[in-house]
Amino acid sequence: MCGIVGYIGKKPALPILVSGLKRLEYRGYDSFGFFALDKNEHFLLKKVGKISEWEKNLLDISFAGNLGIGHTRWATTGAVTQANAHPHFDCHNNIFLVHNGIMENYEQVKNKLIKEGHNFLSETDTEVFCHLIEKYFQGNLEEAVKQALREVRGNYGIAVISKKDPNKIVLAKFGAPLLVGVSKDEYFVASDPSAMVSYTRQIINLDDNEVAVISPDNHFLLKEKPLEQIDWEIQEAEKNDYSHFMLKEIFEEPDVIQEAIRGRMELDKGIARLGGLEQARERLSKIENFILLGCGTARYAAMTGECMFEEYAQLPTKTEIASEFRYRKPVLNKNTAILAVSQSGETADTLEAVKEAKRKGILALGLVNMVGSSISRETDAGVYNRAGVEIGVAATKSFVSQLSILALMTVYLGRQREMSMVTGRRILEEMKKLPDFARKILSQADYIKELAKKYSNYRNFYFLGRKYNYPIALEGALKLKEIAWKVHAEGNAGGEIKHGSLALIDESFPTLCICPTDSVYDKMKNAIGEVKSRKGKILAVVTEGNEEIKNMVEDVIYIPKTLEMLTPILSVIPLHLFSAYLALELGLDIDKPRNLAKSVTVE
Ligand code: AGP
Repeated sequence: MCGIVGYIGKKPALPILVSGLKRLEYRGYDSFGFFALDKNEHFLLKKVGKISEWEKNLLDISFAGNLGIGHTRWATTGAVTQANAHPHFDCHNNIFLVHNGIMENYEQVKNKLIKEGHNFLSETDTEVFCHLIEKYFQGNLEEAVKQALREVRGNYGIAVISKKDPNKIVLAKFGAPLLVGVSKDEYFVASDPSAMVSYTRQIINLDDNEVAVISPDNHFLLKEKPLEQIDWEIQEAEKNDYSHFMLKEIFEEPDVIQEAIRGRMELDKGIARLGGLEQARERLSKIENFILLGCGTARYAAMTGECMFEEYAQLPTKTEIASEFRYRKPVLNKNTAILAVSQSGETADTLEAVKEAKRKGILALGLVNMVGSSISRETDAGVYNRAGVEIGVAATKSFVSQLSILALMTVYLGRQREMSMVTGRRILEEMKKLPDFARKILSQADYIKELAKKYSNYRNFYFLGRKYNYPIALEGALKLKEIAWKVHAEGNAGGEIKHGSLALIDESFPTLCICPTDSVYDKMKNAIGEVKSRKGKILAVVTEGNEEIKNMVEDVIYIPKTLEMLTPILSVIPLHLFSAYLALELGLDIDKPRNLAKSVTVE
């Protein structure tokens, strides 16, 4: 994990590095650091804390160097200390390096280097890169980097500067994202485009095993690489009038549904048009079973997709935790396909699962938000979310978008099989109404805020749902514990609570029940009854007009009536708002919950 930036050009590097790093803070925010070089003078700074808290002081620093690197950290190896913050350097203060990833064999390499006389100042795996490069350095930095990397196992995106081979930044990547931004006489380096979009829209994506050199007037890559265009606006990465990105992103949920379905429906024929799947159309029509893969929230989207694919496309489908998939020896055959669901497209666990599927020769598809990300490039075909940049560490609008596209995919796959035109059309017609339904839910924001305040004194929550809304119960609980981390939350299937967890319930342990009027409504009512009989307080998400549940529970939030398979797209919206408001009520930073980072690029 972590975010790295770099600059080489004619301007002072430091302010550019600070602004870039601020945009990457969502990738890690426990400590940060910079290194900049001006002829023989250098500037090195490392701090514990968030860069946004130090921004003003940093912008007051005047250092003329127009070559530098920076890093924002999410600790993996070594505690959160100033010594462990990046950049790291070698024994002779010649080689300075920032790293995103994990060196898996670092202890072994480090012990060897110590025996050879190297002196380590930190507990990190990253510092091992510096000493390894130092060992091979004979005046040419890229040669030393290449030799050093031969001894490294693990994944990395690194940017390296040497005082003895100045005027260049050497970059290398394996399994972690790294981009070069290209402008006139200047180059930018970053883990993702948001750090450079205000300076340039032209980028080069580095590939695994590539070592690249950028110098003030040229970029020497191992092979000629095409320039790609960043296709989103910088305003997308701004909070605009919202206090937090998470709130902004929740309020964008109606728009992302709209964007997910735009141009992707042929209503009269009852079919979904998913251009990204066309090249795999033939193979997809023969697929006999599907494995959906993802982590965290993306996995809950996949679980909802599993329900949709099985009920409406009659396609045997199974959701797997991406990090477990490749180690479980799954039974796959040539008629199996996988679909990797990932907002960032960089989640290492999911990416490795895709690579494993490809090694086994099965069709690998992606449902990814970030265009050009590793998963989108690694998969055979796929669909983009078009949900725009998501900055809040908690996934919100990307989840709603994933569910919308999984519903479209259900129609796509179903119509290749037994689904009738009438059913296809009915689903699509109903989907068209969802953006307005979502807006209607968000118009209750003040009421949901009041509810969050009312429930903010509780320290434990249970979330229950069934069938399509079971994954929504898991998502509601994850969201709450993730951003309102002073409270504990658990999600479960409505029918499961009586098999053990009911023991937890009393008046101090409220339950959020997702209970729209659908095929499992009566069964959910049983669960509500079981909780009520144990004096548990209940906040229920129910279909508009439902008076029955309203009379049984403490509080209700209404959602508009829609098809059962589409209810999760609506029922999750109040849960996202509830968790955001409750966390704010507890005085927490909802965009940067403790211990977490947006994009987990380590296994
Ligand atoms: C959810 O709020 C998370 N922060 C997390 O579970 C996330 O969904 C997961 O890490 C997967 O990320 P991805 O979609 O970028 O692959």
